[in-house]
Amino acid sequence: MDAIKAAVDAIRQEKPRSVVVLTGAGVSADSGIPTFRGEGGLWRNFRAEDLATPEAFARNPLLVWEWYEWRRSIVRTNAAHRAIASLADALVVTQNVDGLHLRAGSQNVIELHGNLFRARCVREEITRDASNPFAELPPHCECGALLRPDVVWFGEMLPEGAFAKAGIAVRDADLLLVIGTSGVVFPAAGLVSLHHGLSIEINPQLSAISSSCTFAIAAKAADATPTIIEAIRAGTDR
Ligand code: OAD
Repeated sequence: MDAIKAAVDAIRQEKPRSVVVLTGAGVSADSGIPTFRGEGGLWRNFRAEDLATPEAFARNPLLVWEWYEWRRSIVRTNAAHRAIASLADALVVTQNVDGLHLRAGSQNVIELHGNLFRARCVREEITRDASNPFAELPPHCECGALLRPDVVWFGEMLPEGAFAKAGIAVRDADLLLVIGTSGVVFPAAGLVSLHHGLSIEINPQLSAISSSCTFAIAAKAADATPTIIEAIRAGTDR
């Protein structure tokens, strides 16, 4: 029996009510957005040290902003984001900064690594909406200090409370769906080990997390996610 059929059968049997969906770059890959580590991945073509650290920003804020403006310009939702959003009471915990779960309509989203469409003053630490491209790069706050993307760079802490809240939800969930993450970046990758019930991974490749999941579905997110979400909705009439 293939993994998707086995997973659907398990969902039909268990009828999970509380669902947490943990996502990584792979959930956005079917929108044409490069992942980080695979073929064509961002970290194969760019050096994280030049673009995604506080030191890189201090050295060359224009270069860092140009890279984030490019990333902001290529985002759009796909069938996986939209299927996940149709499960209105699910909690989505994402490592992605593309904001696509919110854009697709998910209401309950923890963005562990921040969001490309917010900026933050480096002096006042105040965040603001940055949905539109900036007229000038690098952008500045009214106070005169630089604005930075409101994302978590290497060596920085996750947003306060976000990881603890995600951990409690993962631990208590009836079902954990893990979609499109290599499972190698901590602390996010450690969330999976907190869950002990039914867990389903969707990823065309084996990941560091595959063997910890009840079912590992070797498929693209946009192909398999709608089927799995439909089974969850059917089981509980939602
Ligand atoms: P990675 O690039 O490490 O892993 C992406 C995963 O998605 C891989 O396991 C792929 O096999 C899988 N994948 C590729 N195409 C897919 C598809 N169509 N459907 C489903 N899965 C697919 O990305 P992340 O695990 O998200 O951190 O990386 C975690 C963190 O590392 C990122 O949040 C970022 C990065 O450095 C920060 O920037 C702090």
